Formats: sequence, structure tokens, C-alpha cells
Amino acid sequence: MVFKQITYQTTAYYQVVQLRERILRIPLGLKFSESDLALDKDEMLFALFKHDVPVACLQVRKIDDRQVKLRQMAVDQNHQKQGLGKTLMQKVEKHLKKLDFKSIELNARQTAIGFYQKLGYHIVSGRFTEVGISHFKMMKNL
Ligand SMILES: CC(C)(COP(=O)(O)OP(=O)(O)OC[C@H]1O[C@@H](n2cnc3c(N)ncnc32)[C@H](O)[C@@H]1OP(=O)(O)O)[C@@H](O)C(=O)NCCC(=O)NCCS
Repeated sequence: MVFKQITYQTTAYYQVVQLRERILRIPLGLKFSESDLALDKDEMLFALFKHDVPVACLQVRKIDDRQVKLRQMAVDQNHQKQGLGKTLMQKVEKHLKKLDFKSIELNARQTAIGFYQKLGYHIVSGRFTEVGISHFKMMKNL
């Protein structure tokens, strides 16, 4: 697996958009809109590649000089539960620590809370709905 930071609107970027749509939107009967994807322009985009194909992805929005928000964590269906999500999260956290960020927040799907808890995130909100399903806000200090 090769860890890479991806540049907006390159070939790798469009491959990652397809992965995100397949894992995070189509199962919910949704697709990305132009305005969803426009957010990507200002974010740091990361993925793990196997033979030049992205199999896990994650992106980071800067909130301020201390804090970031992680978004769009997705692992290809055939590669889930093999440690790739954990590996990608840990590599991105290491990168963010080097950039001197102090804390990370994310909106976790209820079904993924256990995954983030194992990585040291804790729930800091009540349940709320995003993309039609239950989420909780989680945080971790770096
Ligand atoms: C949730 C997801 C990102 C996890 O990635 P993954 O590569 O499958 O997870 P890993 O294999 O790295 O798992 C790391 C650990 O978390 C656990 N874990 C993984 N998914 C879990 C889940 N949904 N609930 C509870 N624990 C989970 C694993 O059992 C493993 O535990 P271990 O270290 O004790 O063995 C991935 O399954 C996925 O893309 N799911 C669909 C989309 C999604 O829900 N994205 C998150 C949106 S907030």
C-alpha cells in the first residue's frame, strides 16, 4: 500500500471521488452534487493506493490554526476489516501532528463509532442526522 496526498482535480482525485461515492453515497441512494465536491478544493486529500488504485481515502478541513475536521473516511468494500482504515487514520494523524495541529474533530456515522473509539476518539455530542443517518461528533487531542 502506498500512502499519498492527492492534488485536487488530478486523475487520482477523480479516482478517489469514485471510491467515496461508491462507499459513502450510493448505499444511501445519494450522489455527490457540484457543491459537495466544491468543498474539496480547500481540503487536504489523502489515500492508500494498491497498484495505483485508491482503496482507502480520507480528507481534512482546517478549522483554525489548532484544529481540523476529518471527513469522507472510506475503505473499498473488498478491503474493509483488514487494517487499512486504521493505517490511513494513523498516517494522516502523524502528518497533522507534524503540521502542529492540536486536535481533530469528525462526524462519525453511528455504525463507525467503535472504529474511531479504538483510535482514541470520544463522543462529544448527542445524536444528529446527516445524509439521512445517525451521527455523533467525536474528538481527539493530538
Ligand atoms: C468504517 C471503516 C472506515 C473502517 O475501516 P476498516 O479498514 O474496515 O477498519 P480496520 O480494519 O482498519 O479496523 C480497525 C479496528 O476497528 C474495528 N472496526 C472497524 N470497523 C468497525 C466498525 N464499523 N465498528 C466497530 N469497530 C470497527 C476493527 O475490528 C479493528 O479492530 P482491532 O484493531 O481491534 O482489530 C470502513 O469499514 C468503511 O469504509 N466503512 C463504510 C463507510 C463508513 O462507514 N465510513 C465512516 C464514515 S464516518
